[in-house]
Amino acid sequence: MSERDRNHLWGGRFAASPAEAFENLNASIPFDVRLAPYDIEGSIAHARMLGERGIVSGGESEELVRGLNAVLKQVEAGRFEWTLADEDVHTAVERRLREIVGDVALKLHTGRSRNDQVALDLHLFVRDAAGKIRDGLLETMRALIEVADGHRDLILPGYTHLQRAQPILLSHHLLAHFWSFARDLKRLDAAREAANVSPLGAAALGGTPHPVDPVLTAGTLGMLPLVNSLDAVSERDFALDLLYACAVLGVHLSRLGEEWVLWTSSEFGFARLDDAYSSGSSIMPQKKNPDAYELMRGKAGRLIGNLNALLVTLKGLPLGYSKDLQEDKEPLFDSVDAILAVLAVLPEMLRTASFDGARMSNASGGFALATELADFLASRGTPFREAHRAVGELVRRCEEEGISLEEAVPEKLSSIHPAFAGLPRDLLTPAGSVANKKSSGSTSPGSVEEQLRGARDFLSR
Ligand code: ARG
Repeated sequence: MSERDRNHLWGGRFAASPAEAFENLNASIPFDVRLAPYDIEGSIAHARMLGERGIVSGGESEELVRGLNAVLKQVEAGRFEWTLADEDVHTAVERRLREIVGDVALKLHTGRSRNDQVALDLHLFVRDAAGKIRDGLLETMRALIEVADGHRDLILPGYTHLQRAQPILLSHHLLAHFWSFARDLKRLDAAREAANVSPLGAAALGGTPHPVDPVLTAGTLGMLPLVNSLDAVSERDFALDLLYACAVLGVHLSRLGEEWVLWTSSEFGFARLDDAYSSGSSIMPQKKNPDAYELMRGKAGRLIGNLNALLVTLKGLPLGYSKDLQEDKEPLFDSVDAILAVLAVLPEMLRTASFDGARMSNASGGFALATELADFLASRGTPFREAHRAVGELVRRCEEEGISLEEAVPEKLSSIHPAFAGLPRDLLTPAGSVANKKSSGSTSPGSVEEQLRGARDFLSR
């Protein structure tokens, strides 16, 4: 047996070394090496506690902490080396620690298993990632407020069935996305809270005979301690919570992306992206493509898939550790990376875009003001159903004559219904229509002002 094999973490029980193909399959180090900073943070808390509780001497504890900090420096400098024989990040860190501090490193794992260790690393990762995503999302929400505030007069058609429905303020539309992101923040905070529990003390699954102090390690890490050792090594709910938060956020981002793909098309022509956020075509010289928004839409697929992947991995597992749990990491990393990459681009892409107010304010085209007429009749005592039928008739007649509602002369309106005689003409403009909304939360300028105040308040809380 080679020196390498004798050094192997669990080598004592084995007479032969692992087959190369098995080692390839088994190793998580190629992807879990990114957990190294969290692994070391957890080990430092554990080493301090070992010293505090007299499980190792004070000097040994200090030596372990010193060595772990040295490993951390190497990780941070990008000088941490590993091989497949390390199997996973926990083993690689311990191996490196031993190279630095010598055999005292062999005491670090007292009262701990890789099962509670890996669960802790992942908790720390999720806590950190949820915070980073939160920051990126807050920046996006600030950008939405700025753009909404800077374009308070712009009106675009609101759509149902992707048919022009009613004019709405651009600021109202942008703030609609703001409020869905506000709900995403709650989901991210829930994931962060779920992650903020330390599994240390669980050891393999049933606890440890050593007088460890899970409250102390948890406290050092700013976490709550475990309650049930079996649950602590088995559950990945906090990871599911983050994957769910990312999937829903991804769906929100995708819908926003889809709108911008439409808005920047020649057919809509509502908005233009800054050159810094568009790409060209290798063959068609005229093209300016909204790739970033398409990717935002595209990434929703894998964000949903990653949530599914972990749910399915977990569903058949008995409590305790099974190696299946190693499959929790890649979907989680992938979702976090995908969301952070999008959020790194989106705020500035929103801020630097420009709008074509004239194109958008053709918002009444397609009879988008017809509801206004029906509501007018209803407000003058006509039962709404009757008003709806009368205006429908008018729309049909305008269509036959090839004119818009606005062009329908007052006499024609009156012949449809006598109450139209008193119609204020500016009601049949996009601005008149949005101003005419009275319900709270509506697209009226007053209500949007209130929303802007509410949005600013939300961010300052
Ligand atoms: N690489 C493993 C994982 O990611 C670490 C835990 C290994 N534990 C074990 N009992 N083999 O889950």
